[in-house]
Amino acid sequence: MLKNKEIILGVTGGIAAYKTVELLRELSKRGANVHVVMTQNAQRFITPLTFQTLSGNPVLCDMFQLLEDSKIGHVALADSADLMVIAPATANILGKIANGIADDFVTTMVMATKVPVLFAPSMNVNMWESDIVQRNVERLKAHRYEFMDPAEGDLACGSVGKGRMADIEEIIEKIEDIFTTKDLTGQHVLITAGPTLEPIDPVRYITNRSTGRMGFALAKMARRRGAEVTLITGPHYLSVPRRDIPQIVVNDAREMHDAVAGCFDDCQIVIMAAAVADFRPQDVLEEKITKRKNGSYCLEMEKNPDILKELGEKKRNHILVGFAAETSELMEHAEVKLQEKKLDLIVANDVTQPGAGFGVDTNRVKILDAFGKVRTVPLLSKDEVAHIILDHVVKLVKKKEKDRPWPRNW
Ligand code: PMT
Repeated sequence: MLKNKEIILGVTGGIAAYKTVELLRELSKRGANVHVVMTQNAQRFITPLTFQTLSGNPVLCDMFQLLEDSKIGHVALADSADLMVIAPATANILGKIANGIADDFVTTMVMATKVPVLFAPSMNVNMWESDIVQRNVERLKAHRYEFMDPAEGDLACGSVGKGRMADIEEIIEKIEDIFTTKDLTGQHVLITAGPTLEPIDPVRYITNRSTGRMGFALAKMARRRGAEVTLITGPHYLSVPRRDIPQIVVNDAREMHDAVAGCFDDCQIVIMAAAVADFRPQDVLEEKITKRKNGSYCLEMEKNPDILKELGEKKRNHILVGFAAETSELMEHAEVKLQEKKLDLIVANDVTQPGAGFGVDTNRVKILDAFGKVRTVPLLSKDEVAHIILDHVVKLVKKKEKDRPWPRNW
């Protein structure tokens, strides 16, 4: 997504400037060409040489510096960029820009550019919460400047609160978000992820190898494409995909069933990537099972509700997407599930393939639709697979919209 993008990285004078080095590296790793511009104060925290070495581009610090071809630096760069990021953004720089002051390279460039500008503020918690800073932030937001709000935690000044520059991963996510077409705006997508844990006794349970990665990738990408997303997940060890995705954590299949049923009426699209246990132990023992003299123990199982099948029965205008995790006869099994559960799409996942299925960051799938069309998706990152699945969902949304009887907008 960031390949060949021209990004201007404005660095201002805050202690978080050292983190901007990592941001630059992550942007370059993703193929962006980064041009760093610095204020005088930023150079007290970190040297231009560091940024120059890592970006491979001259670092611009002087307002009156001309580029090689004698063009005025801030104007030439501002014209050729795709995005400008100010990280860290101090209270001072926010105040200046919000009030139309352009007296250094960074502020003049913000005034001179027509491309999106993203601020990642970083300052003391009291400064961040002050009426003046908040008023400046609101004013800038009203002018369509983008913000990655600071995170909470220990601050360099010794206090604790909101003011740390957001994590680099979050800033990258926001940047990718800015470059993404919002083709799921107006849609509420319910996504399930992860395993279920079916208890046996107070210390044991039955589960599977799902980590939640595939479902989390779908949630992140759907949100990035403008959807409102609700994520219902089994227990997991992953970090939250985004701060703006509400997450409901459940333990077993019946809890997942109830959570999904509670959200179903409010959403238009459901994607079930969770590996829901088909069976659970019939009786959950109150005491820990002790060792048997004869060395064996028989566990009686009963069926869990088939959540997706129930949704298939009660869907109205919903789009339903299921997954089929298989170890043999992939397409045959997937097709049966597609029809039995009345799905619009099913993602057939041969979990015996190297790099595919449970616990890895990549996947290789086939996407089948209700008209018998099959799309083979090669081995890609789960983020990329998620995007391809969502491309198919968007096509279905557009088709439903087209087929809907008049009046369409009422
Ligand atoms: O989480 P990861 O480590 O990233 O792994 C990803 C994954 C392998 C779990 C994922 O890609 C995947 O294949 N998920 C579906 C796993 C599964 O349970 O498949 P299934 O064939 O057993 O179920 C078919 C569909 O019915 C699934 O959409 C499932 O969510 C749903 N189902 C299943 C059983 C049940 N009782 N209720 C359901 O709704």
